[in-house]
Amino acid sequence: MDFHNKLIKWYLQNKRDLPWRKTVDPYQIWLSEIMLQQTRVVQGMPYFFAFTKEFPTVFDLANASEEKVLKLWQGLGYYSRARNLHNTAKYVAYDLDGIFPLSYKDLLNLKGVGEYTAAAIASFSYNEAVPVVDGNVFRVLSRYFNIESDIALPATKKEFAKLASELMPKDNPAIFNQAIMEFGALQCVPKNPVCKTCVFNDSCLALQKKKVNSLPVKLKKTKITKRFFNYLILEDHLGNTLIQKRTAKGIWHNLYEFPLLETKEIAGFDYVSAAVKSEIFSDYTIIGIEECAEAAIIHKLSHQHLHIQFWKVKIKETLENGIDAKNLKTFPFPIVIYNFIEKQEIIC
Ligand code: ADE
Repeated sequence: MDFHNKLIKWYLQNKRDLPWRKTVDPYQIWLSEIMLQQTRVVQGMPYFFAFTKEFPTVFDLANASEEKVLKLWQGLGYYSRARNLHNTAKYVAYDLDGIFPLSYKDLLNLKGVGEYTAAAIASFSYNEAVPVVDGNVFRVLSRYFNIESDIALPATKKEFAKLASELMPKDNPAIFNQAIMEFGALQCVPKNPVCKTCVFNDSCLALQKKKVNSLPVKLKKTKITKRFFNYLILEDHLGNTLIQKRTAKGIWHNLYEFPLLETKEIAGFDYVSAAVKSEIFSDYTIIGIEECAEAAIIHKLSHQHLHIQFWKVKIKETLENGIDAKNLKTFPFPIVIYNFIEKQEIIC
């Protein structure tokens, strides 16, 4: 049996029941594909339901405030996706009268829509014969065909797109694309796949050559930077605090945080106390400083490992723009800060 026939047969017997597979609406497909970038299906699913409930059409999303979009995105990470999503919704709603571009080529013009997402929308919504090439596809094809090209290189993406295109039945690209991704997600998994039960175990070259665990090849290692964040939780006598919006470029752009003291290493009480009293909050009368946990929280992002400490700083004065505990939770925060806020009463 051909590769595609075997694959599609496997898919029809094993596929998960996923909401974005029950529609050809490009708005919903686009939403789901942006959410599923660098994200597992179980993690993305509740967000898909929340967004489609809150914003049933692209106009609803376009008309929402960025703050509302970021709040609903809270916890999904890679927040530039949410900001691009919102900008693109405005562009589609206001400049394109709510109609998504109708081809792969035109979809590529949308902000935040790269080759993978354009191919997913074009094939799932319009049945255009363009192959998706994501991590799953790299894995399945590199193993099945024993391809050792480095998947971190742009040329390799072209090589795999060409191969996927040749394998794809042109009369049903949507099902082929869904099937190959699903196969990568459920059967041909990164570590220790169960090749014994695989429908391709009679023809997979990596299995024959005992190379399943060494394919695909990815040479470029992501460089990870360590950063040390000290969040200062001001507390006035009303129990109110202060937050600020991160307006600088970089991580967490436009999300909220507590006043931040970034240091070169894990900070001790003496260092933080001196910085708070003599510089950061020198205008206030400090009546107490304490660290809110015994150890720093390590929050891992794709290129940075953040070592985060929270410090409670009690002051005598009343904060002018103080925010109370209830109001605090309505702002969009990085999830590590939101989790701290949720637990704060117990730990600090
Ligand atoms: N990951 C990315 N896109 C997906 C899709 N459409 N279905 C399942 N997993 C996915």
